[in-house]
Amino acid sequence: MSDIVYLNGKFMPIEEAHVPVLDRGFIFGDGVYEVIPVYSKHPFRLSEHLRRLQYSLDKVRITNPCSDAEWTRLVGEIIQRNQGGDQSIYLQVTRGVAKRDHAFPKGVRPTVFMMSNPLVTPAPALVESGVACITAPDYRWLNCDIKSVSLLGNCLLRQLSVDAGAAETILFRDGKLTEASASNVFVVRDGVLLTPPKDNLVLPGITYDVVLEIARAREFQVEVRAVDETEVRAADEIWVTSSTKEVLAVTTLDGKPVGDGRPGPLFRRMHALYQQFKQDHMRKAA
Ligand code: PDD
Repeated sequence: MSDIVYLNGKFMPIEEAHVPVLDRGFIFGDGVYEVIPVYSKHPFRLSEHLRRLQYSLDKVRITNPCSDAEWTRLVGEIIQRNQGGDQSIYLQVTRGVAKRDHAFPKGVRPTVFMMSNPLVTPAPALVESGVACITAPDYRWLNCDIKSVSLLGNCLLRQLSVDAGAAETILFRDGKLTEASASNVFVVRDGVLLTPPKDNLVLPGITYDVVLEIARAREFQVEVRAVDETEVRAADEIWVTSSTKEVLAVTTLDGKPVGDGRPGPLFRRMHALYQQFKQDHMRKAA
Protein backbone atom coordinates (compact mmCIF):
# COMPACT_ATOMS: atom_id res chain seq x y z
CA MET A 1 0.00 0.00 0.00
CA SER A 2 1.42 3.38 -0.92
CA ASP A 3 1.82 6.31 1.41
CA ILE A 4 -1.06 8.77 1.41
CA VAL A 5 -0.03 12.42 1.25
CA TYR A 6 -1.97 15.68 1.24
CA LEU A 7 -1.50 18.29 -1.47
CA ASN A 8 -3.57 21.43 -1.91
CA GLY A 9 -6.89 20.16 -0.61
CA LYS A 10 -6.68 16.48 -1.56
CA PHE A 11 -5.36 13.26 -0.09
CA MET A 12 -3.67 11.00 -2.66
CA PRO A 13 -1.02 8.28 -3.05
CA ILE A 14 2.44 9.87 -3.00
CA GLU A 15 3.07 8.75 -6.60
CA GLU A 16 0.22 11.01 -7.74
CA ALA A 17 1.36 14.12 -5.87
CA HIS A 18 3.06 16.60 -8.22
CA VAL A 19 4.10 20.22 -7.79
CA PRO A 20 4.70 22.51 -10.80
CA VAL A 21 8.36 23.33 -11.49
CA LEU A 22 7.64 27.03 -10.95
CA ASP A 23 6.65 26.44 -7.33
CA ARG A 24 8.66 28.97 -5.32
CA GLY A 25 9.58 26.22 -2.89
CA PHE A 26 11.46 24.54 -5.77
CA ILE A 27 12.84 27.72 -7.37
CA PHE A 28 13.77 29.76 -4.27
CA GLY A 29 13.33 27.51 -1.23
CA ASP A 30 10.57 30.03 -0.44
CA GLY A 31 8.56 28.21 2.18
CA VAL A 32 8.40 26.97 5.75
CA TYR A 33 7.77 23.60 7.35
CA GLU A 34 7.10 21.63 10.52
CA VAL A 35 7.97 18.11 11.68
CA ILE A 36 5.48 16.76 14.22
CA PRO A 37 6.06 13.45 16.02
CA VAL A 38 2.99 11.26 16.47
CA TYR A 39 2.83 8.69 19.27
CA SER A 40 0.00 6.14 19.32
CA LYS A 41 -1.79 8.28 16.70
CA HIS A 42 -1.61 11.43 18.87
CA PRO A 43 0.36 14.38 17.52
CA PHE A 44 2.87 15.57 20.13
CA ARG A 45 2.46 19.23 21.18
CA LEU A 46 0.36 20.04 18.12
CA SER A 47 -0.70 23.49 19.28
CA GLU A 48 2.95 24.43 19.91
CA HIS A 49 3.91 23.19 16.43
CA LEU A 50 1.04 25.19 14.89
CA ARG A 51 2.11 28.27 16.85
CA ARG A 52 5.67 27.92 15.53
CA LEU A 53 4.28 27.41 12.00
CA GLN A 54 2.32 30.66 12.34
CA TYR A 55 5.49 32.40 13.59
CA SER A 56 7.51 31.16 10.58
CA LEU A 57 4.72 32.13 8.15
CA ASP A 58 4.46 35.61 9.69
CA LYS A 59 8.23 36.11 9.45
CA VAL A 60 8.27 35.25 5.72
CA ARG A 61 4.97 37.03 5.07
CA ILE A 62 2.94 34.09 3.80
CA THR A 63 -0.72 34.11 4.88
CA ASN A 64 -1.53 30.95 6.81
CA PRO A 65 -3.70 28.98 4.38
CA CYS A 66 -5.51 27.09 7.17
CA SER A 67 -6.97 27.85 10.57
CA ASP A 68 -5.63 25.88 13.54
CA ALA A 69 -8.87 23.88 13.51
CA GLU A 70 -8.31 22.99 9.83
CA TRP A 71 -4.68 22.03 10.45
CA THR A 72 -5.78 19.87 13.36
CA ARG A 73 -8.34 18.11 11.17
CA LEU A 74 -5.84 17.60 8.31
CA VAL A 75 -3.11 16.32 10.61
CA GLY A 76 -5.64 13.97 12.24
CA GLU A 77 -6.74 12.70 8.84
CA ILE A 78 -3.24 12.04 7.49
CA ILE A 79 -2.43 10.15 10.69
CA GLN A 80 -5.53 7.96 10.22
CA ARG A 81 -4.83 7.38 6.52
CA ASN A 82 -1.31 6.11 7.19
CA GLN A 83 -0.98 2.82 9.03
CA GLY A 84 1.81 1.55 11.20
CA GLY A 85 3.29 2.62 14.48
CA ASP A 86 4.49 6.05 15.51
CA GLN A 87 4.68 8.62 12.75
CA SER A 88 6.50 11.78 11.85
CA ILE A 89 4.27 14.28 10.06
CA TYR A 90 6.06 16.63 7.70
CA LEU A 91 4.09 19.67 6.58
CA GLN A 92 5.23 22.38 4.24
CA VAL A 93 3.75 25.65 3.00
CA THR A 94 5.39 27.49 0.10
CA ARG A 95 4.52 30.88 -1.37
CA GLY A 96 3.01 29.09 -4.37
CA VAL A 97 3.49 28.88 -8.12
CA ALA A 98 4.49 31.95 -10.15
CA LYS A 99 6.78 33.08 -12.99
CA ARG A 100 10.30 33.34 -11.59
CA ASP A 101 10.81 36.74 -9.98
CA HIS A 102 12.41 37.35 -6.59
CA ALA A 103 9.65 39.79 -5.60
CA PHE A 104 6.54 38.21 -4.07
CA PRO A 105 3.86 37.34 -6.65
CA LYS A 106 0.39 38.83 -6.12
CA GLY A 107 -2.77 36.78 -5.72
CA VAL A 108 -1.02 33.41 -5.60
CA ARG A 109 -2.28 30.57 -3.42
CA PRO A 110 0.30 28.98 -1.10
CA THR A 111 1.15 25.34 -1.83
CA VAL A 112 0.30 23.06 1.09
CA PHE A 113 1.90 19.63 1.32
CA MET A 114 1.84 17.01 4.09
CA MET A 115 3.28 13.52 4.37
CA SER A 116 3.68 10.90 7.05
CA ASN A 117 6.84 8.88 7.62
CA PRO A 118 7.52 6.24 10.26
CA LEU A 119 8.93 7.94 13.37
CA VAL A 120 12.38 6.47 13.87
CA THR A 121 13.68 7.40 17.31
CA PRO A 122 17.19 6.37 18.44
CA ALA A 123 17.58 2.64 19.04
CA PRO A 124 18.12 1.62 22.70
CA ALA A 125 21.77 0.70 21.90
CA LEU A 126 22.39 4.27 20.69
CA VAL A 127 20.76 5.73 23.80
CA GLU A 128 23.09 3.51 25.84
CA SER A 129 26.26 4.32 23.91
CA GLY A 130 25.65 7.95 22.97
CA VAL A 131 26.81 9.39 19.67
CA ALA A 132 29.82 11.11 18.15
CA CYS A 133 29.52 14.73 17.04
CA ILE A 134 31.83 17.13 15.28
CA THR A 135 31.84 20.93 15.39
CA ALA A 136 31.83 23.61 12.69
CA PRO A 137 31.46 27.36 12.41
CA ASP A 138 27.81 28.37 12.07
CA TYR A 139 27.79 30.22 8.76
CA ARG A 140 24.02 30.11 8.25
CA TRP A 141 21.92 33.25 7.88
CA LEU A 142 20.71 35.34 10.82
CA ASN A 143 17.09 34.10 10.75
CA CYS A 144 17.58 30.58 12.05
CA ASP A 145 14.44 31.01 14.17
CA ILE A 146 12.38 30.62 10.98
CA LYS A 147 11.70 26.98 10.17
CA SER A 148 12.49 27.62 6.52
CA VAL A 149 12.71 24.94 3.84
CA SER A 150 15.85 26.77 2.59
CA LEU A 151 18.09 24.30 4.40
CA LEU A 152 21.20 24.30 2.21
CA GLY A 153 23.41 25.57 5.05
CA ASN A 154 22.02 22.94 7.42
CA CYS A 155 22.42 20.18 4.78
CA LEU A 156 26.06 21.14 4.07
CA LEU A 157 26.81 21.24 7.78
CA ARG A 158 25.04 17.93 8.46
CA GLN A 159 26.99 16.27 5.64
CA LEU A 160 30.27 17.20 7.37
CA SER A 161 29.26 14.92 10.24
CA VAL A 162 28.16 12.17 7.85
CA ASP A 163 31.57 12.37 6.17
CA ALA A 164 33.23 12.12 9.60
CA GLY A 165 31.04 9.16 10.65
CA ALA A 166 29.33 11.33 13.30
CA ALA A 167 25.68 11.88 14.19
CA GLU A 168 25.52 15.68 14.23
CA THR A 169 27.47 18.87 13.64
CA ILE A 170 27.45 21.21 16.63
CA LEU A 171 27.72 24.86 15.62
CA PHE A 172 29.51 27.89 17.08
CA ARG A 173 29.07 31.49 16.04
CA ASP A 174 31.49 34.11 17.37
CA GLY A 175 32.73 31.71 20.04
CA LYS A 176 29.21 30.86 21.30
CA LEU A 177 27.16 27.69 20.97
CA THR A 178 24.12 28.07 18.72
CA GLU A 179 22.61 24.64 17.95
CA ALA A 180 23.37 21.63 15.72
CA SER A 181 22.55 21.14 12.03
CA ALA A 182 19.14 19.61 12.84
CA SER A 183 18.83 19.72 16.64
CA ASN A 184 19.18 21.91 19.71
CA VAL A 185 22.06 21.43 22.13
CA PHE A 186 22.28 21.22 25.93
CA VAL A 187 25.45 21.07 28.00
CA VAL A 188 26.05 19.97 31.61
CA ARG A 189 28.86 21.58 33.60
CA ASP A 190 29.36 20.99 37.31
CA GLY A 191 25.80 19.69 37.64
CA VAL A 192 24.22 22.70 35.89
CA LEU A 193 22.23 22.28 32.68
CA LEU A 194 23.10 25.03 30.19
CA THR A 195 21.50 25.92 26.89
CA PRO A 196 21.43 29.04 24.71
CA PRO A 197 18.29 31.21 24.80
CA LYS A 198 15.80 31.24 21.93
CA ASP A 199 16.82 34.05 19.62
CA ASN A 200 17.34 34.59 15.89
CA LEU A 201 20.36 32.26 15.86
CA VAL A 202 18.54 29.04 16.79
CA LEU A 203 15.39 27.19 15.91
CA PRO A 204 12.98 27.35 18.85
CA GLY A 205 12.75 23.59 19.31
CA ILE A 206 9.60 22.01 20.67
CA THR A 207 11.73 19.27 22.25
CA TYR A 208 14.00 21.97 23.74
CA ASP A 209 10.93 23.43 25.49
CA VAL A 210 9.83 20.02 26.78
CA VAL A 211 13.32 19.26 28.12
CA LEU A 212 13.49 22.63 29.88
CA GLU A 213 10.00 22.15 31.34
CA ILE A 214 10.91 18.72 32.69
CA ALA A 215 14.26 19.97 34.01
CA ARG A 216 12.64 22.87 35.88
CA ALA A 217 9.79 20.71 37.22
CA ARG A 218 12.33 18.19 38.57
CA GLU A 219 14.52 20.92 40.05
CA PHE A 220 17.55 20.42 37.85
CA GLN A 221 19.81 23.46 38.10
CA VAL A 222 19.16 25.20 34.79
CA GLU A 223 20.76 28.24 33.19
CA VAL A 224 19.45 29.52 29.86
CA ARG A 225 22.22 31.82 28.70
CA ALA A 226 24.94 32.27 26.11
CA VAL A 227 27.25 29.23 26.28
CA ASP A 228 30.91 29.68 25.34
CA GLU A 229 32.61 27.28 22.95
CA THR A 230 35.19 26.64 25.68
CA GLU A 231 32.40 25.55 28.05
CA VAL A 232 31.10 23.07 25.48
CA ARG A 233 34.56 21.65 24.89
CA ALA A 234 35.07 21.18 28.65
CA ALA A 235 31.53 19.92 29.31
CA ASP A 236 30.73 16.95 31.55
CA GLU A 237 27.77 16.07 29.30
CA ILE A 238 26.40 17.22 25.96
CA TRP A 239 22.90 16.38 24.68
CA VAL A 240 21.20 16.98 21.35
CA THR A 241 17.41 17.24 21.17
CA SER A 242 14.86 17.11 18.35
CA SER A 243 11.46 15.67 17.52
CA THR A 244 13.07 12.60 15.96
CA LYS A 245 16.17 12.24 18.17
CA GLU A 246 14.25 13.07 21.36
CA VAL A 247 17.15 13.46 23.86
CA LEU A 248 20.44 11.88 22.85
CA ALA A 249 23.81 11.94 24.63
CA VAL A 250 26.90 13.10 22.78
CA THR A 251 29.85 11.03 24.00
CA THR A 252 32.63 12.27 21.73
CA LEU A 253 33.16 15.75 20.32
CA ASP A 254 35.66 16.14 17.50
CA GLY A 255 37.03 12.71 18.45
CA LYS A 256 37.59 13.54 22.14
CA PRO A 257 35.52 11.96 24.91
CA VAL A 258 32.83 14.12 26.54
CA GLY A 259 33.17 13.63 30.31
CA ASP A 260 34.12 9.99 30.79
CA GLY A 261 32.96 9.14 27.26
CA ARG A 262 29.67 7.60 28.39
CA PRO A 263 26.17 9.10 28.70
CA GLY A 264 26.19 11.02 31.98
CA PRO A 265 23.93 10.79 35.04
CA LEU A 266 21.84 13.86 34.20
CA PHE A 267 21.27 12.53 30.68
CA ARG A 268 20.11 9.18 32.05
CA ARG A 269 17.67 10.92 34.35
CA MET A 270 16.37 13.24 31.64
CA HIS A 271 16.03 10.44 29.12
CA ALA A 272 13.93 8.40 31.57
CA LEU A 273 11.82 11.45 32.46
CA TYR A 274 11.26 12.25 28.78
CA GLN A 275 10.07 8.68 28.11
CA GLN A 276 7.80 8.93 31.15
CA PHE A 277 6.45 12.26 29.92
CA LYS A 278 5.60 10.70 26.55
CA GLN A 279 3.98 7.75 28.30
CA ASP A 280 1.86 9.98 30.52
CA HIS A 281 0.86 12.51 27.88
CA MET A 282 0.55 10.39 24.74
CA ARG A 283 0.16 6.69 25.28
CA LYS A 284 -2.40 6.92 28.04
CA ALA A 285 -4.50 9.27 25.94
CA ALA A 286 -4.63 6.60 23.22
N1 PDD B 1 14.59 19.48 12.80
N2 PDD B 1 17.32 23.01 15.25
C1 PDD B 1 17.26 22.70 13.95
C2 PDD B 1 18.15 23.42 12.99
C3 PDD B 1 16.34 21.72 13.51
O1 PDD B 1 16.26 21.41 12.21
C4 PDD B 1 15.53 21.04 14.47
C5 PDD B 1 14.53 20.00 14.08
C6 PDD B 1 15.65 21.40 15.83
C7 PDD B 1 14.79 20.77 16.90
O2 PDD B 1 13.45 21.19 16.84
P1 PDD B 1 12.26 20.26 17.35
O3 PDD B 1 12.59 19.88 18.75
O4 PDD B 1 11.05 21.12 17.27
O5 PDD B 1 12.21 19.06 16.43
C8 PDD B 1 16.55 22.40 16.17
C9 PDD B 1 13.57 18.62 12.29
C10 PDD B 1 13.29 17.42 13.11
C11 PDD B 1 13.85 18.33 10.83
O6 PDD B 1 14.19 19.28 10.14
O7 PDD B 1 13.69 17.19 10.38
